[in-house]
Amino acid sequence: MSTTLIAPSILAADFANLQRDIEMINASEADWFHIDIMDGVFVPNISFGMPVLRDIAKHAKKTIDVHLMIVDPDRYVQTFADLGANILTVHYEACAHLHRTLQVIKAAGMKAGVALNPHTPVSHLEDVIQDIDLVCMMSVNPGFGGQQFIENTYDKVAALKALITKKNAPTLIEIDGGVSDKNAAQLVQAGADVLVAGSFIFKSSNPTETIKELKDIAAR
Ligand code: DX5
Ligand code: ZN
Repeated sequence: MSTTLIAPSILAADFANLQRDIEMINASEADWFHIDIMDGVFVPNISFGMPVLRDIAKHAKKTIDVHLMIVDPDRYVQTFADLGANILTVHYEACAHLHRTLQVIKAAGMKAGVALNPHTPVSHLEDVIQDIDLVCMMSVNPGFGGQQFIENTYDKVAALKALITKKNAPTLIEIDGGVSDKNAAQLVQAGADVLVAGSFIFKSSNPTETIKELKDIAAR
């Protein structure tokens, strides 16, 4: 049986009832908190920043997985470590010196993740995969929740899984964007280890049940 992890994306939570939604995740079968930080430059949207993450971290009782959609993320690595991030993911497309950035993230005591935009080939990670704890495979163009899943993702996941196996790397594969009951099983079959889901969980009538539903699909 697979042990796929479920990471609800806080971007789809009710920010006026954030503590309620955090406690819902704490009490659910979810594994991680997925936190999307957007700067309005790398992506055409601004989400929320440090003060909100600080307050989330006060209540969150599970791994805090921070996805930075910002330019020049090196500037804030220590800040996010201090705020309580356990995993810090930077975009491949935002890092001129990715290998160095990964070492800086690890030196700050966090797991190091790399996100790939839908147009970025998996092969670009060939020479750095052994240094990556998590690849966040974008299955939508980053910037917004509630977008449609890009079908080409299945092939990319399979290619990434093959690269990880070939290099005997410790890397987890996370899928981010448009994840639902329609694609979860096929993603896990292709090699996904972590499923991020925002709208599918928070727009459902019973988010706790929806998390359980995803967890059950992913365990098949
Ligand atoms: C998109 C974010 C995602 C987003 C997923 O830029 O990185 O984490 O919150 O939301 P859904 O599941 O609604 O596509
Ligand atoms: Zn994300």
